[in-house]
Amino acid sequence: MSAKYVIDSIPGDGIGVDVTDVAMRAVDAVAQLHDFSVDWRIREWNSDFYKKTGRMMPEDGLEQMASGDGIYLGAVGTPDVPDDITLWGLLIPIRREFDQYINLRPMRLLPGIKGSMPGLENLDVVVVRENVEGEYSTIGGRFGTGTPGEFALQEAVFTRAGITRVARYAATVAEQRGGKLVSATKSNGIIHSMPFWDEVVAETTAEFPSVQVEKVLIDALAARLVMKPTSVNTLVASNLFGDILSDLVAGVAGSIGIAPSANLNPERRFPSMFEPVHGSAPDIAGKGIANPVGALWAAAMMLEHLGESAAAVALTAAFEGALADGISTPDLGGNATTASFAEEVIARLK
Ligand code: NAI
Ligand code: MG
Repeated sequence: MSAKYVIDSIPGDGIGVDVTDVAMRAVDAVAQLHDFSVDWRIREWNSDFYKKTGRMMPEDGLEQMASGDGIYLGAVGTPDVPDDITLWGLLIPIRREFDQYINLRPMRLLPGIKGSMPGLENLDVVVVRENVEGEYSTIGGRFGTGTPGEFALQEAVFTRAGITRVARYAATVAEQRGGKLVSATKSNGIIHSMPFWDEVVAETTAEFPSVQVEKVLIDALAARLVMKPTSVNTLVASNLFGDILSDLVAGVAGSIGIAPSANLNPERRFPSMFEPVHGSAPDIAGKGIANPVGALWAAAMMLEHLGESAAAVALTAAFEGALADGISTPDLGGNATTASFAEEVIARLK
């Protein structure tokens, strides 16, 4: 009997809907060719759902998804709902409650794409971002609202356990990729959490004699990723730093529309979540021109996670093949639509 996977799909808002629609079709096509199937449980949890119910997802939304084999997300966010509501009402609870503490964001120069500069053929970066603690925290508050002394206080949370497990995961990734690991820090300016980060990263990675760790201040690292992006291979970073640097690397590689992301619970006690890095892009929503490559690449990462490696490789080869043949959406300088690009991908699967 052929395998069947249950995937909760949350298309979300804006171009999230466009790209997941075509990516799910591509997954179904590759599944059929590789003798398995995906049972998509479509969850219409988005900004409209919020406007109707006052919540981004039902109260038992996480329970509903806990039994699945994975979660596939487009993007959420719309101009008339505050972004902290869409993010903290859906995405962040999923990442935290399902203990998806690793956010894996690979990037390389895809065929047929001109990056930000010549000589990027060897660009191959994996960002390992801490995904459940750090700078994104609810601890703090707004005080003295409306008074001249008004202020906001925002705390960051760094735990020994949290840093240890992301450092260990990143070292394992680096070990398989030549042994060079860059750790993003800012221990000169942020004097409590970042020296702690450095210390725990150093202690943890000492267990990996074949991994050489270079700690780099985030400001200099940002410049280095723009000027000499091929000098970084595997990168470990806190929640905020990893978020920013992975978008930066995607921009260097041509477009934020091509970047994928896996939110992993490595122990597989909970479903992991796969999504493109980009947001809902209200500026191009509904125009049918969103680049589906980030969503397709994220879908390939999901197939890999499910153990369907051959299908993951085939799907990746198909979107790379389309790009290599000069087919691309306008963000990459082409004139394909989301749908026509996806058709080219599906045609290349056969
Ligand atoms: P964005 O990623 O949606 O857009 C930034 C720029 O990149 C825009 O000019 C957009 O047109 C372009 N772009 C993004 N993805 C593209 C694609 N696939 N093809 C072609 N062009 C693409 O980021 P922005 O504008 O900061 O955020 C818009 C909304 O998305 C906000 O509400 C934000 O909170 C939300 N957001 C949601 C995320 C998620 O659900 N994981 C992640 C990031 C932002
Ligand atoms: Mg981001």
